[in-house]
Amino acid sequence: MLDLHSINMRRGMLYETIITTINPDKTPNAAPIGVICKDKDEIVVYLHEGSRTIKNIKNNRAFVVNILKDPLVFVESTMGNLSPEHFLEFNDEFNDNYAIQGSDAYFLAKVYDLKDIERKDQFGIDKSSIIRADVDEIVKNKDCVEPLNRAMYGVVEALVYLTRKDMVSGETEKLYNLRMKEISRIVNKVGAREHKEAIKKVMTAWNEDK
Ligand SMILES: Cc1cc2nc3c(=O)[nH]c(=O)nc-3n(C[C@H](O)[C@H](O)[C@H](O)COP(=O)(O)O)c2cc1C
Repeated sequence: MLDLHSINMRRGMLYETIITTINPDKTPNAAPIGVICKDKDEIVVYLHEGSRTIKNIKNNRAFVVNILKDPLVFVESTMGNLSPEHFLEFNDEFNDNYAIQGSDAYFLAKVYDLKDIERKDQFGIDKSSIIRADVDEIVKNKDCVEPLNRAMYGVVEALVYLTRKDMVSGETEKLYNLRMKEISRIVNKVGAREHKEAIKKVMTAWNEDK
């Protein structure tokens, strides 16, 4: 049977996916959501209060995680909803859920634990839910699936800024400092050991002789 390792999801890493859920009127909803791989058949998702996705998950206790890299699907599902022709409809085997057509892979997630929490973050008090779910029924449409993870992009961005270090000063240097801090935060949040090691080296070089 397929597990998360067979679609290259590694334990402890956070992947940018599109989650599809069912609205109360049975139409599909899609939204980009970060999914943490906890184990080969277990995921964790943090959802902010107020989205349709969290409401639908609370109602249905199941959702589909779509692995894909189509930029327009990400944009459309963030800014509104995807048009109906993007969705694949299922019957029994996926508990009537929908997936996104053309995904590199997708799987059904069944919620086994849902906790509402309040925590302080950089934007103030954040009300959200932590959802733990078992992975069921993985469909793999490509031999080699590469789920989207931001860590490598972050390391590359930080390296580009590093190569410009001696060229910037004043306001631009302040701006670059802020960006480097933010990139480092993201890489440490979503990356694997090697990404964290890489960004640490870049940050050390960035902060040298300043
Ligand atoms: C790449 C990306 C990742 C996101 N990850 C999350 C997340 O992990 N949790 C969350 O609550 N919102 C996340 N969002 C924000 C939701 O996608 C956004 O609030 C969306 O509009 C919710 O749509 P909905 O109301 O149809 O559920 C993310 C957005 C993007 C672009």
